[in-house]
Amino acid sequence: MSGNQDQIDYWNGPAGQRWAEAQESLDRTLASIGKAFLAFVAVKPGERVLDIGCGCGTTTLAFADAAGPNGGVTGLDISAPMLGLARTRAAGRAIEFVQADASVHPFRAEYDVATSRFGVMFFADPVAAFTNIRKALKPSGRLAFLCWRALPDNVWAAVPLLAARDLLPAQEPPDPHAPGPFAFADPVRLRAILESAGFNAIRIDKLDSVMNMASTAREAAQFALGIGPLARATAELDDATKAKIVARVSEALKKYETASGVAPPAACWLVGASP
Ligand SMILES: C[S@@+](CC[C@H](N)C(=O)[O-])C[C@H]1O[C@@H](n2cnc3c(N)ncnc32)[C@H](O)[C@@H]1O
Repeated sequence: MSGNQDQIDYWNGPAGQRWAEAQESLDRTLASIGKAFLAFVAVKPGERVLDIGCGCGTTTLAFADAAGPNGGVTGLDISAPMLGLARTRAAGRAIEFVQADASVHPFRAEYDVATSRFGVMFFADPVAAFTNIRKALKPSGRLAFLCWRALPDNVWAAVPLLAARDLLPAQEPPDPHAPGPFAFADPVRLRAILESAGFNAIRIDKLDSVMNMASTAREAAQFALGIGPLARATAELDDATKAKIVARVSEALKKYETASGVAPPAACWLVGASP
């Protein structure tokens, strides 16, 4: 048992379905961040890559392109609906997909790279999970992943939440270390987790980017209600309240409209380490 059952239920439920349905717009939203991430991971021809929390397979496909015919890529995720889409997108290609919990999957030391785009912040016991992930790496291998910095620095998420604040159900202040998108916001804690899991040569680099949310503020507001922290906060609300929130969020996001779309700031960590 990994203690991750809540997350397994979450990513196999309506959230996993929404992510699969929104894959194209989500990838457009993550275009700038995703490009910087792929450059950071820098998969070379012939490498074997483990894509953890691969979701709908966008990065898995990109890693397979980079690794080429002499390399190999495994996408691993707990979400059946997201993996279903990933398998369809990769049809005819030699990419392996595995439905499993990365924190307990029995890995062998066969990968040159263990990586993830926003898929490693959801472990109930992150030290145990990264100790297990380390077992997937060859001694010469590397860990390279992307995670979010703190919520207030992520304007794309903070502004919609703030705009909708008084229309949201009352909530206890969240535990900042609980599994979730912002669990690794604190770099001191993140470094300690990776050190305790046995990693060396840890680097935690800032990536300041944008979320290319949509063409208009209204579309961006609708996107915010479908994916991300506001989606979680509004899941149980009725349609009339959600419509009010869309109007509010749309107004708040107008100031981030540019000629090429609505692009509020996003703040991430690019994390690297050796096993
Ligand atoms: C924020 S989504 C990111 C998906 C994908 N990497 C992307 O960038 O589009 C987080 C992903 O992590 C997966 N995930 C969460 N906990 C996991 C675990 N313990 N083992 C494997 N995958 C996990 C979820 O199912 C989900 O697909």
